[in-house]
Amino acid sequence: MALPDWIQQAPKMTMPSPLAFIGLLTLTWGTFAFFRQATVYLLPCKIQRYNSTDKGHTGGNWALVTGATDGIGFGFSQELCARGFNVILMGRNEGKLQKRAAELRQQFPSSKVDTIIMEAVPVSSTVDEIANGLPGKLTVLINNVGGAGGDWKPYLPFGEYKFEEAQATIDKNAVFMAQLTRALLPALSRAEHSLVLNVSSMASWGVPYICMYAASKGFVDSFTRALQGECAAEKNGVDVLGLRVGQTSTPGYNQPVSWFIPTARVMAKAGLDRVGCGKTIVWGYFWHWLQGLSFYVLPRFVLVKAMAKKMMALKKEEEAKSKRS
Ligand SMILES: NC(=O)c1ccc[n+]([C@@H]2O[C@H](COP(=O)([O-])OP(=O)(O)OC[C@H]3O[C@@H](n4cnc5c(N)ncnc54)[C@H](OP(=O)(O)O)[C@@H]3O)[C@@H](O)[C@H]2O)c1
Repeated sequence: MALPDWIQQAPKMTMPSPLAFIGLLTLTWGTFAFFRQATVYLLPCKIQRYNSTDKGHTGGNWALVTGATDGIGFGFSQELCARGFNVILMGRNEGKLQKRAAELRQQFPSSKVDTIIMEAVPVSSTVDEIANGLPGKLTVLINNVGGAGGDWKPYLPFGEYKFEEAQATIDKNAVFMAQLTRALLPALSRAEHSLVLNVSSMASWGVPYICMYAASKGFVDSFTRALQGECAAEKNGVDVLGLRVGQTSTPGYNQPVSWFIPTARVMAKAGLDRVGCGKTIVWGYFWHWLQGLSFYVLPRFVLVKAMAKKMMALKKEEEAKSKRS
């Protein structure tokens, strides 16, 4: 029996080739993964989970921020006060600590502000004494102190580092964070819900000419994952979040603000807004995340070449700046 004309004239359906099928599958997976990640930036912030008192009211718990006298650390301190926390500023310079504390008290009269003087480099066993002098219930620890440079020059070929420079970079970014967290974990575990937020960097991917910094931020990522798993297993109420940060305009990274280089306060706000997003390590700022997608899309050799070039440009810029001043 002959098929009706309309069936005979219909365009023929052909099976897709294996390559087209793989392409379609990759595209579907890519689109799904992209939108799944992007939703992180639409979820509500859950930081208030750590600011409830035993009587069920909100407000009055303490957050400790390291490297709090400048840059993103001061941004975190402002944002935490704005969200009703009392804040302990930790830094190494007493005059600057007092100045920043006064600024916060004036800006946020309903928050209490305390200070702790502590040098992160070299790390000393005095970190163990901090837990004894806390002014109240500690529910948030922000391990922010860090940086590629500091009192020495960043963007060095690794063989040109002096012993002290290499050691200081690890102490400042990795060892101090781990030792302080260890010392404060019992106090944090006493609260029903508490948070350790570790500031990591885009550099943890492995950026040339800042080997020591990149590797110490790799330590931050790995430490964050391990501690998160351990606290979950222990059911001690401590949540652990790693915050991946990209270029941000701060005294430590003196670059003009742009779409991809936010101010320290904007970066800090974005970071706190990601709290409760369900990830262990998250890009805090949406535009940094978009930039970070290149790590998954571009071949590593292309990225490494571009980064080495960028680091050398930054080195020249720093050298020109220090000659002018
Ligand atoms: N800015 C960026 O582009 C960028 C990018 C990726 C990741 N990050 C990360 O974000 C965090 C904050 O960076 P930032 O750019 O805001 O830093 P920053 O502008 O250099 O400020 C650093 C803060 O840490 C304090 N500090 C520095 N060395 C210290 C030491 N040895 N002991 C105690 N305190 C010390 C500083 O105190 P003083 O005021 O006394 O100097 C200051 O309060 C770091 O972990 C950094 O690795 C930043």
